Amino acid sequence: MSNKRPILSVENLTKVFGGVVAVDNVSFTVEEGEIFAVIGPNGAGKSTLFNMITGVLPSSSGNIYFQEKRLNRKKPYQIAQMGITRTFQNLEVFDNMTVIENVMTGAHITMKTNILTAGLRLPSVRNEEVKTMERAMEALEAVGISDLAYEIADRLPYGSQRLLEIARAAISNPKLILLDEPMAGLNSEESRQLVEVILKMREQGMTFLFVEHDMETVMSISDSIVVIDNGVKIGEGTPEEIYQNPQVVAAYLGDEEEEGVEAYA
Ligand SMILES: Nc1ncnc2c1ncn2[C@@H]1O[C@H](COP(=O)(O)OP(=O)(O)OP(=O)(O)O)[C@@H](O)[C@H]1O
Ligand SMILES: [Mg+2]
Repeated sequence: MSNKRPILSVENLTKVFGGVVAVDNVSFTVEEGEIFAVIGPNGAGKSTLFNMITGVLPSSSGNIYFQEKRLNRKKPYQIAQMGITRTFQNLEVFDNMTVIENVMTGAHITMKTNILTAGLRLPSVRNEEVKTMERAMEALEAVGISDLAYEIADRLPYGSQRLLEIARAAISNPKLILLDEPMAGLNSEESRQLVEVILKMREQGMTFLFVEHDMETVMSISDSIVVIDNGVKIGEGTPEEIYQNPQVVAAYLGDEEEEGVEAYA
């Protein structure tokens, strides 16, 4: 385990909305190849944290480093080009486009074609399109829904649309993928399929940072967990350590998780 290298470092990150401190001086480091979970009650600041890391929201103070490069004040597309992509808490698919077209939109950050050259229909443009389609198909195969490539996206079951979003996040071959509540709304079969996809992609070298309320998934696939409550980091560690942290249990896991505490302690 000595060859671990940090890929993402969040240092004293803070976000204030008006009078509300949504994220309060949070620090943690994600190592390359990890599956890293952020958990905490509703309104804890988890999505706000993701929005700052991906440049959707500016931070109020603190620093974010990705492979030692500072991300503060970079635009979302620049952060994507550096190798961080994400999915959102709410489903964000283009309803009227086919599944493969949806996935292809995730590739534009690495495509050379711009509007001008696309309009000229140059052979190089056509080649790039074909290559992008091939990559989109590979991404769909990786998440197990390539048979749905030419369906209109909004006709897919919810779980397949979630997988489509992950294929779209993966097509640009990012180093780090952020998933905001990927299991929300999935049935148990769909959740199981998604867990398999995440584990397989991690084996291929991808690093995952994810927010999730489904504790069974969090505890079974995470290498490290950070717990946030009311914007403040209240715990950090392996799943076993988190389940044994009295402050975390009191603030978040609560009494109804007693069974789980025993199972994972
Ligand atoms: N754009 C915004 N403007 C003002 N306040 C915001 C904004 N986004 C989030 N907040 C507030 O910041 C706090 C943290 O919200 P956030 O969405 O990050 O929580 P969360 O941990 O993702 O919750 P959930 O588990 O419900 O998704 C909340 O009090 C929320 O109301
Ligand atoms: Mg959220």
